[in-house]
Amino acid sequence: MKAAFINETGPPSVIQYGDLPTPEPSENQVLVKVGAVAVNPVDTYIRNGANYWELPVPFVIGCDLAGTIEKVGSGATRFKVGQRVWGTNQGLMQRQGTFAEYCAVDEDWLYATPDNVSDEDVAACSLVGVTAHLGLFKENANLQSGESIFIHGGSGGVGSMVLQMAKIAGAKVITTAGSDEKVELCKSLGADTVVNYKTEDVSEAVAKFAPDGVNVVWETLREPDFETLVPYLAERGRLILMAGRDARPAFPVGPFYVKGCSLHGFVMFKATPDELRACAEDINRWLSEGKLKSRIGTVMPLSEAAAAHALQEENTLNQVGSLAGKIVLKP
Ligand SMILES: NC(=O)c1ccc[n+]([C@@H]2O[C@H](COP(=O)([O-])OP(=O)(O)OC[C@H]3O[C@@H](n4cnc5c(N)ncnc54)[C@H](OP(=O)(O)O)[C@@H]3O)[C@@H](O)[C@H]2O)c1
Repeated sequence: MKAAFINETGPPSVIQYGDLPTPEPSENQVLVKVGAVAVNPVDTYIRNGANYWELPVPFVIGCDLAGTIEKVGSGATRFKVGQRVWGTNQGLMQRQGTFAEYCAVDEDWLYATPDNVSDEDVAACSLVGVTAHLGLFKENANLQSGESIFIHGGSGGVGSMVLQMAKIAGAKVITTAGSDEKVELCKSLGADTVVNYKTEDVSEAVAKFAPDGVNVVWETLREPDFETLVPYLAERGRLILMAGRDARPAFPVGPFYVKGCSLHGFVMFKATPDELRACAEDINRWLSEGKLKSRIGTVMPLSEAAAAHALQEENTLNQVGSLAGKIVLKP
């Protein structure tokens, strides 16, 4: 089968596109014929040598996939041959990734794709969708209907999912975007107020939007500025962090604890299969009902995986702003 893989870490040019043996599903696995995959920033950190865990060699890159079941392992019971599925959390914690014509995946990491949702759309929502869901509900932000949320980066992969899910939950949303076009896009996704962070004063806009502060602040940037963010929080506000492994910013302790605020950090890949399945069930329903929309910036052939990584990196690390939506690749 054709696959995009690496034998060593490094820049996007270490990605090879070529033949690897088609994997055999083990007992609890299924073999998925891949219809679409999506790129995430974490794919580029791992390829670049982030060294979170040891990588298999060769290592097939990528976390997200959508496709059709081709074979079922002897002990796998959730799916049948021919069924359409999607999933994420592959290519992480020493698992092989998804950027290939076929992937052998533990059935617990897969979910049935709704009939009226394409592989491209569901792949584009997968890692970013479960991330938004894990952070917004239950023990993290525990967002309630009628509350307010400030999303720093509502035009991004995760941010645009957080924005839409917060609206589905009945919250009021203020968010940032880096161009007039992206401001319009966030409005079309339902944001109540969108601030162009390049041309407008964000703090002024938040103060106008929520004079007593917002209930939730969701930071998607890798260098959080707590001196700016903490004043945005209302009494008992929740601050969500999910990016910036190397960030060591100063933190204004006094203004934070006297408001009874709480700080929540998480990574999606440490969620259990059951926790992720609960997210996937909502995502499936919302996609199928048209309440949640995937945002695809560009679709490329899998053979262009190296170019796709360069484009993602340019945007997430160098903040060039040339990407509006997810990069989807097709084998
Ligand atoms: N913890 C987890 O489980 C988890 C899961 C997924 C992702 N992440 C991490 O979360 C981060 C975001 O991921 P993503 O996929 O959403 O990335 P992304 O699609 O590249 O989005 C980046 C966002 O940041 C905005 N931005 C860039 N520079 C900015 C600035 N100076 N001021 C304000 N906004 C700015 C961009 O806005 P414009 O494009 O409009 O300028 C865009 O909305 C990454 O570091 C990723 O590794 C963590």
